[in-house]
Amino acid sequence: MQYLEFLKIRLQGVVPESTRLPSGFHLIGHVAILNLNNSCVSFAEQIGQVTLEYDKRIKSVAFKTGPTEGCFRKPDYTLIAGDSNTLTTHVEAGVSFRVDPLRFTFSGGNRAERIRMGKIVESEERILDMFACVGQFSLHAAAKPGTEVIAIEINPDAYSLLVENISLNKLNDRMSAILGDCRNVHPKGSMNRVIMGYLHDTQNYLIHALDALVSEGGIVHMHIALPEDKLLETTETVGEICSSHGFTSQVSIRRVKIYAPNIYHNVFDILVE
Ligand SMILES: C[S@@+](CC[C@H](N)C(=O)[O-])C[C@H]1O[C@@H](n2cnc3c(N)ncnc32)[C@H](O)[C@@H]1O
Repeated sequence: MQYLEFLKIRLQGVVPESTRLPSGFHLIGHVAILNLNNSCVSFAEQIGQVTLEYDKRIKSVAFKTGPTEGCFRKPDYTLIAGDSNTLTTHVEAGVSFRVDPLRFTFSGGNRAERIRMGKIVESEERILDMFACVGQFSLHAAAKPGTEVIAIEINPDAYSLLVENISLNKLNDRMSAILGDCRNVHPKGSMNRVIMGYLHDTQNYLIHALDALVSEGGIVHMHIALPEDKLLETTETVGEICSSHGFTSQVSIRRVKIYAPNIYHNVFDILVE
């Protein structure tokens, strides 16, 4: 039975008919994350309890209570039902992640992009992930045999899980992690591909990605949250930054997800030569 239908049947007489119940959830390991409409918030606990009964894999239920904030990009979710231990193991396209989705961003809308990273990287590539968190992009990239991956993370707690995840996926022979600010600790002149999985003013970090590339250039995946009408201006800025570094650039832009009303999460795939 569909989740929404299940909720409607189980909550009949408990919530008013006008309540706009959620039509789905994002499952990360044993944790279900809900997006609740305002009309649902006062029934959050009841919805959480019924959600636990919907799918045996679900042991904890949380919902989004505020925006993701700060340099560490900590999400704002509130547990509404089930196990308060939300540290879990999530498996995606054969890659395992130890992650606590209530403490670290693990976006459902980025799933296809994470998996794409594992598909487009080529053997023998040296890849840098500048904003690694628990390894959302870099573990997929490192899963491709023959790659060599360096992942940088500034938050010590996310870094600990990143290190654990490298071992969990038996990637120690070709993936390593660095704790620190990617602007200061990135390798120089040695990478073929750089992943910049950070959405806010990411162009300000682009010079460091260019510094990391080999002198022939390479590919940079620059994620950024922007309104549609800023795409052209940002493409021009990217071109100027690359050219001030002595590189030419070709940009192709893909929309990953809707980030906020009229703001889109885009990835700029930048071919740098
Ligand atoms: C929004 S999360 C995204 C994680 C992952 N790249 C993804 O897209 O799913 C951004 C991560 O970058 C880290 N971060 C922020 N500024 C950083 C910096 N200057 N150097 C290294 N890591 C940084 C944060 O701690 C956080 O874990």
